Amino acid sequence: MNKTKRAAVIAGNWKMNKTPSEAKTLLEQIIPVAKGADCEVIACVPYVDLAVAIETVKGTNVKIGAENCHWAESGAFTGEISTGMLKEIGVEYVVLGHSERRQYFGETDETVNKRTKAALAAGLKPIVCVGELLWERECNITEEVIARQIKLDLYDISAEDAKKTIIAYEPVWAIGTGKTATADQAEEVCAFIRAQLAKQYDEQTAQAITIQYGGSMNDANAAELLSKENVDGGLIGGASLVAEKFGAIIDAATKG
Ligand code: 13P
Repeated sequence: MNKTKRAAVIAGNWKMNKTPSEAKTLLEQIIPVAKGADCEVIACVPYVDLAVAIETVKGTNVKIGAENCHWAESGAFTGEISTGMLKEIGVEYVVLGHSERRQYFGETDETVNKRTKAALAAGLKPIVCVGELLWERECNITEEVIARQIKLDLYDISAEDAKKTIIAYEPVWAIGTGKTATADQAEEVCAFIRAQLAKQYDEQTAQAITIQYGGSMNDANAAELLSKENVDGGLIGGASLVAEKFGAIIDAATKG
């Protein structure tokens, strides 16, 4: 992290976990552990939990995000949720292009780009996820894969909007597997992402963008990962569902 240059952001991605009443309980446990944090704290929760989540965190430093959004304002898109719907209830962030959406729900860089533009246009802050598969890492094409995702996912997005966007580097092989990238591996790719952003925009823009690491980040490994210059925070799955563990990660970001 380099808090003098950009915001440190610790975000939980709850995925398909917690009913509305369970969400309320978990947030009530997260609020005290997030209090006074010297980093942004976000919980990205399932759609049906959003309303109760926003109500529960009112007046605290915990922010709420959604886990996806559609690019159209409205229309015949059964099962989808628009940016306007999210904005109206007070959602601030939205996770886009998560590898689980790419793997299981046919998300492509083109649709990630469309969703990112729609989110920015609506005043939502996107958390755009990129990351290589294990096979791609083994074939030594991690940088090619990441460069392509960054180019396409942020295609036609202005520098001003790019600065409102958080990039989450999530190596797919590290998600939910207990296999964390080493701090050096995370730093290497996060630094590469920043260099790619500098090429696409300019150095000043690249230095201002928060780049998170995600993939089995937990209370035991967070401090080391966050000690790296280009790792500006975390996008946390499993450990964000346990207030004590999420709190320890917030602490690591506060101290770092
Ligand atoms: P885990 O922390 O459970 O590995 O999940 C990471 C992730 O996918 C966050 O978006």
